[in-house]
Amino acid sequence: MTAPSSPCIERVQPAEEHTLLPHLIALLRDATESGGSIGFLPPLSTETAGVYWRKVFAEMAQDTCTLLVAREAGQVAGREAGQVLGAVQLALVMWPNAPHRAEVRKLLVLTSHRRRGIGRALMDAVERAADAAGRTLLVLDTRQGDAAERLYRALDYQEVGVVPGWCRDTHGAPDSTVIFYKHLPPAAPLTKTPPPA
Ligand SMILES: CC(C)(COP(=O)(O)OP(=O)(O)OC[C@H]1O[C@@H](n2cnc3c(N)ncnc32)[C@H](O)[C@@H]1OP(=O)(O)O)[C@@H](O)C(=O)NCCC(=O)NCCS
Repeated sequence: MTAPSSPCIERVQPAEEHTLLPHLIALLRDATESGGSIGFLPPLSTETAGVYWRKVFAEMAQDTCTLLVAREAGQVAGREAGQVLGAVQLALVMWPNAPHRAEVRKLLVLTSHRRRGIGRALMDAVERAADAAGRTLLVLDTRQGDAAERLYRALDYQEVGVVPGWCRDTHGAPDSTVIFYKHLPPAAPLTKTPPPA
């Protein structure tokens, strides 16, 4: 048996909207239908999901948001729009007093591809994207008790606190959310290689 290939993480360009939209819509609907607490409630229509992603692409065109997607490595090599396995966004805070802050939004992995390290790989990549954009303070939140809470704790995100009744589940019952932050460590300084003796 061959080991599954590790996902390839790509930064999406605004011009890829047309090609990637169906994949992103499918990803958002999959996460919503499987009970993810990501803002929407099932049933999520293709139209509503499309409106959401178009807004994200509009933010990308204004350079206020970075969208990263995970795709199977083999499919990316040919530059074809292979199945998108996961995604995450980095929303840059645009207030003049917070040029160092960004929000990590909508970390999503297809239910069929979970527990294979894709979520962790997307978080690693979003932290690198934040660092490259000069954003050293990341904030995010997730429903208390969800897999994402365990993932964020494993990645050293610090809990700010729990907000009871932050949102509603499919039956209208209140759900609590946990708010996290992380200060990214400063990038390692470049070291000179000593000349051979
Ligand atoms: C959260 C989510 C993105 C994780 O994606 P994933 O690819 O399955 O995560 P990974 O395989 O990279 O898991 C990394 C670590 O997170 C933790 N983790 C992830 N899923 C878990 C689960 N179901 N139960 C327990 N721990 C879990 C584990 O520590 C895991 O490491 P391990 O596999 O070595 O034990 C995915 O479950 C998802 O899309 N959920 C729905 C959407 C959502 O809630 N997003 C976050 C809020 S916006």
